[in-house]
Amino acid sequence: MNIKEQHQPKGIRGRSLFLLLTILSLSASSLLQAQSFSGTNHVPTTVHPLTAKGIENFFQLSDRFYSGSAPEGESAFAELKNRGIKTIITVDGAKPDVETAHRFGIRYVHLPIGYDGVPTNQAIRLVKAAETLPGPIYIHCHHGMHRGPAGAAVICMATEGWSAEQADSWLRLAGTATNYAGLYKSVEQFQVPTPEALKKVPANFPEQSPVSPLADVMIQIDERFENLKLIKKAGYSVPTSHPDLDPAHEALLLNELFKELLRSPATARRTQDFQAKLQEAEGCSHQFYNALISTNISGGYSVAAFKQLNAAITDATFKKVTDSCTACHKAHRN
Ligand code: HEC
Repeated sequence: MNIKEQHQPKGIRGRSLFLLLTILSLSASSLLQAQSFSGTNHVPTTVHPLTAKGIENFFQLSDRFYSGSAPEGESAFAELKNRGIKTIITVDGAKPDVETAHRFGIRYVHLPIGYDGVPTNQAIRLVKAAETLPGPIYIHCHHGMHRGPAGAAVICMATEGWSAEQADSWLRLAGTATNYAGLYKSVEQFQVPTPEALKKVPANFPEQSPVSPLADVMIQIDERFENLKLIKKAGYSVPTSHPDLDPAHEALLLNELFKELLRSPATARRTQDFQAKLQEAEGCSHQFYNALISTNISGGYSVAAFKQLNAAITDATFKKVTDSCTACHKAHRN
């Protein structure tokens, strides 16, 4: 009996169906997590984990590069200074703590990227900054798990001779979730920029880039939302009109946009009610994502009732997302 047969649910009905549903919903995220920790066997030997107060997911990548989370507080910057860090590159959407960095004699560079990948132009800027600014250089995003490691990967491919396979192994080691397909794809398809392309990039890198105003973020949110409407119409699967859309990926990116908006200083300056409505939208989009991945996992089983039940749950959570957009617009936009 092969593994697939062993796991094939036979004659599932009634209570055991609900039990299966619960187990699958709960284990969906851990299953994906487990997958993302495989295949780390090609990590360059120079890569090793470090510990420091105020820094999560801290790694040394080479003599010149380090990767991790946004440094929290004085002690984190002190740790970086002790390691000789001269420049910090952040790819996070949040405004960097430039003042504290300066007190420790460290310069910041802010080159934000999204969860959907490293745009070619931004990759070229990252490489030029990494090549021209004083090292060692610390590269970070918010938690040091997804965008930061992807930024560090392209830098190391261009300047440390890492292969695409090594860069991929590094992402898996850093814990970059494989469902951030755009980040993995940017690294897999990255081409080392030519000297001409690098020459064209101005060398005056900003310590702080403008954080996207609300309307800009809303346009990105709306794009994901429109894609999800198509996905819903296709029964929560890939729409035939848009074979490029990955349902779970779209739902995940929508959730990340709300999450990042929650963290932005512009949101902190808004009313309590706006913040509460944004929190609600973030929560709903997270529930929708979880419901959607459970639906997709159930697709592997041929139990019609189970599929139907999951589709109903996914419908209900999608409606909650829609309602959360409307509620906030009614109170704060229209
Ligand atoms: C917490 C509040 C809040 C939530 C939740 C919210 N929005 Fe918005 N949205 C706004 C505000 C405020 C504006 C007006 C922004 C401005 O013009 O400065 C806006 C603007 C927009 C715009 C117009 C952008 C433009 O100027 O062209 C679109 C489209 C939009 N939202 C879509 C959505 C969708 C889709 C959702 C849900 C998936 C959503 N929004 C959830 C507050 C919210």
